[in-house]
Amino acid sequence: MGPFQALYSRTPFRTLATTIKPLQLPKLYSTLSTIYDPLSGRLVTQASPNPNQQPDSTRPPDSDYANALKDDRSYGAVLKTGFKKTSSSKSKSRSIWVCSECGYSDGKWWGKCRECNYYNTMKELKEFDDAGKTSGFQVSEKVTRSWLPKEGGEVGPLRLTDVNRGVNHSNWRFPLTGLFGDEVSRVLGGGLVPGSLVLVGGDPGVGKSTLMLQVAALIAEGQELGKPAPVLYVSGEESVEQIGNRADRMEISTDELFLYSSTDIEDILVKAQALSPRALIIDSIQTVHLAGVTGSAGGIYQVKECTAALLRFAKKTDVPVFLIGHVTKSGDIAGPRVLEHIVDAVLYMEGEQYSSHRLLRAFKNRFGSTDELGVFEMTPCGLQAVKNPSEIFLSEERSDSEFLAGLAIAVIMDGSRTFVVEIQALCAAGASLSRQVNGVQAGRADMIIAVLMKQAGLRLQSNSIFLNVVSGATLTETAGDLAVAAAICSSFLEFPIPSNVAFIGELGLGGELRMVPKMEKRVSTVAKLGYKKCVVPVPAVKLLKGLDFGEMEVLGCKDLKDVINIVFVTS
Ligand code: TYD
Ligand code: MG
Repeated sequence: MGPFQALYSRTPFRTLATTIKPLQLPKLYSTLSTIYDPLSGRLVTQASPNPNQQPDSTRPPDSDYANALKDDRSYGAVLKTGFKKTSSSKSKSRSIWVCSECGYSDGKWWGKCRECNYYNTMKELKEFDDAGKTSGFQVSEKVTRSWLPKEGGEVGPLRLTDVNRGVNHSNWRFPLTGLFGDEVSRVLGGGLVPGSLVLVGGDPGVGKSTLMLQVAALIAEGQELGKPAPVLYVSGEESVEQIGNRADRMEISTDELFLYSSTDIEDILVKAQALSPRALIIDSIQTVHLAGVTGSAGGIYQVKECTAALLRFAKKTDVPVFLIGHVTKSGDIAGPRVLEHIVDAVLYMEGEQYSSHRLLRAFKNRFGSTDELGVFEMTPCGLQAVKNPSEIFLSEERSDSEFLAGLAIAVIMDGSRTFVVEIQALCAAGASLSRQVNGVQAGRADMIIAVLMKQAGLRLQSNSIFLNVVSGATLTETAGDLAVAAAICSSFLEFPIPSNVAFIGELGLGGELRMVPKMEKRVSTVAKLGYKKCVVPVPAVKLLKGLDFGEMEVLGCKDLKDVINIVFVTS
């Protein structure tokens, strides 16, 4: 029995009412004052630390905890949060500026974010005086308090050797079985870590709910652990019937998968406590809310506080929690970007609109590498792992491209994410000369064409040239230069490039190939995708020496002439 099993067999959800102790007022709070409580609509008397400090008031909780406290309205002071209030005599709200890229907040507007240096990302948010009356941390603390193994303060620093004693790290993680499970496991760094908080992001409709429902079923079945156990899937977007319908289509029929439709995080945590699940899934973080926190669901405070509550829940109970989050193209302020700092792992699901393939990539992982990539196909009955990922680029049109000149594969990065894109070029000799580029900066395209003419001796001057990046992607970095040049060469020489060759490199004015950042990541991505050859600048070969790229051959080229000799003459 692995430690994970042990963890769940010791029934962590004991409801020990006796552990709820009436909170003692700190002696510090000795001065009594009466104020108007806008929530209860009446005057309340409470203790305050000193005459100058206005204690917080908070939404009365509806549990035992509240009962324990109801005679003493000073709990607001005990439950106070880190939000600083403006003077009560001033206006009811103040503005703060929050960066939509990294979540950094500032009291003043600056043209750019002082944390991540992005321009025009600072968005104004009104912080009301009642903001911060409740925080996710406290709510979770309250809900999970009764089954805490130890009271806060009783636990001191522990020696590493004591912490690790008796723990076998090789089976510490929760394994996911089958082809699909393996693919997800790999992206997670080798399995699901107990008590981890994982954010699954992606565009709306990409298949996040589908993925998580399948993962939930796998965890519930728990084949590796020997017996099924409950998994709670909470949706704030769909009714249980809708999820049931979807599960039915995907032929999921495990008894231990529990569905719940709710948007109140406190309610969700209470239900989760009662169920004692093996994992908890929240679909989506933008639909849940915490009563007492400013803003509607999806707002930055709500998203942050709800995540804080779930983080606390995960850490205290060792139940792994998955959050689903939508990303909007504009990098929505309340989107998962803000949460990336809080959670343990961020997985992004990507896919083209007209392709059934989906990539799952770890963007951040406290428990594993971020270089792993999971490749899936969306079928009428859910997601299936793609056994041979190179197939995804060998769709019908692409396999024909063995005989189609003018196509080349580039590997570009977006943040830390790697994308493989196809560049198309068409060189046509004709009376009316024109140049059309789509997805490549016009100036960059002109430069590459000029270098091809001057340094590689291609007679392109009497040709119309059309360039296109497939599926609307845009080349924003110079790593795609080599692929653009290769595509033009291929079309001009009417020499098709085999579809399993990728090109990575920047082009200099002398026709030389230059290094680009994150070479290792780019090359390993194409290797994982099943490419057979990758053309890179010569220095990259040295850099990548000793790394295992499977069957893929890394070809170092000094300049364009080298590329033409290697790709268009010998291959
Ligand atoms: P969904 O998981 O709802 O996306 P998200 O949660 O990211 O918004 O999936 C949306 C798409 O997936 C939808 O357009 C239909 C498609 N789909 C399938 O093709 N097969 C299936 O079995 C399921 C459940 C969905
Ligand atoms: Mg969904």
